[in-house]
Amino acid sequence: MGVSGVRSGVLGIALAIAWAGSVLPAMAREELVDQGRKLFRQCQSCHQVGPKARHAVGPYLNNIFGRRAGTLEGFRYSDAMKQAGQDGLVWDEAVLAAFIADPPGTVKGTRMKFRGLKGEADQKALVAFIRQHSPGSSNIPETPPTAPVHASAGDPDLPEHILSITGDPAYGEYLSSECVTCHQASGEDKGIPSITNWPARRFVTVMHAYRSKYRENPVMRSVAASLTDEEIASLAVYFETLE
Ligand code: HEC
Ligand code: HEC
Repeated sequence: MGVSGVRSGVLGIALAIAWAGSVLPAMAREELVDQGRKLFRQCQSCHQVGPKARHAVGPYLNNIFGRRAGTLEGFRYSDAMKQAGQDGLVWDEAVLAAFIADPPGTVKGTRMKFRGLKGEADQKALVAFIRQHSPGSSNIPETPPTAPVHASAGDPDLPEHILSITGDPAYGEYLSSECVTCHQASGEDKGIPSITNWPARRFVTVMHAYRSKYRENPVMRSVAASLTDEEIASLAVYFETLE
């Protein structure tokens, strides 16, 4: 398998499609937003939305879509949140749902003290409500249908024929441009975990755990779903060589 120009940007497109979902009928959308409004009560002690919204314990949440994390004027973010934004974390439906589900798991070291909202249907409703407070909200892609969630207690073992696929580090380097918008190539772990210098077999096991939906993070599930076994093996050998 060589490096082909056609592959360029495929991951990005796959991500967009994974989150494009179906267009909801107006009624269903209204119900979803209503449900989200109720769920927003869990955020209201710290966050405001709407025309009169101001910073409170947390920053206001208007116009959040497409904006880098931790960048509003006049709010004192944690270093972790500011760094996540500098490292390329931009709020979209997938990232927002992941953050709502598990704030410190998405932005490690965040000051937001919230235990996380677990159900994917609830996350989707809340995101739909917050989206009402961003301009061009109808052009923002939908979240995907809910997927089964497994408790995570160690990743499932993979068969030897998958673990022993020989990756091509040059192809891995080529594919990695899609990863380093979030994961630091320098191996720094500021908000998003470091994935450099892992044993290749461990890396492959973890990527398959996202792809099989054993691991929960929705962003990584979409990323892994768009990769073949050979591509995962190539990414693994490439990232293994990075210090
Ligand atoms: C106990 C207070 C508290 C609650 C409850 C809370 N947050 Fe936060 N939130 C914060 C704080 C503080 C920050 C800033 C975090 C940092 O700088 O690390 C934050 C940051 C955020 C950000 C990043 C905003 C930006 O400008 O980049 C989002 C998005 C967010 N919260 C959404 C939510 C949602 C949705 C809920 C409800 C499910 C919620 N929060 C519940 C306190 C809270
Ligand atoms: C949009 C941001 C984003 C992109 C793009 C992204 N990741 Fe991730 N990745 C994350 C987040 C957030 C986590 C933590 C998820 C969790 O808690 O399960 C993560 C977790 C991981 C982990 C597990 C880390 C651990 O400590 O368990 C691996 C491995 C990984 N990503 C590899 C990749 C690879 C390879 C790519 C590119 C093909 C990629 N990621 C693209 C955000 C991203």
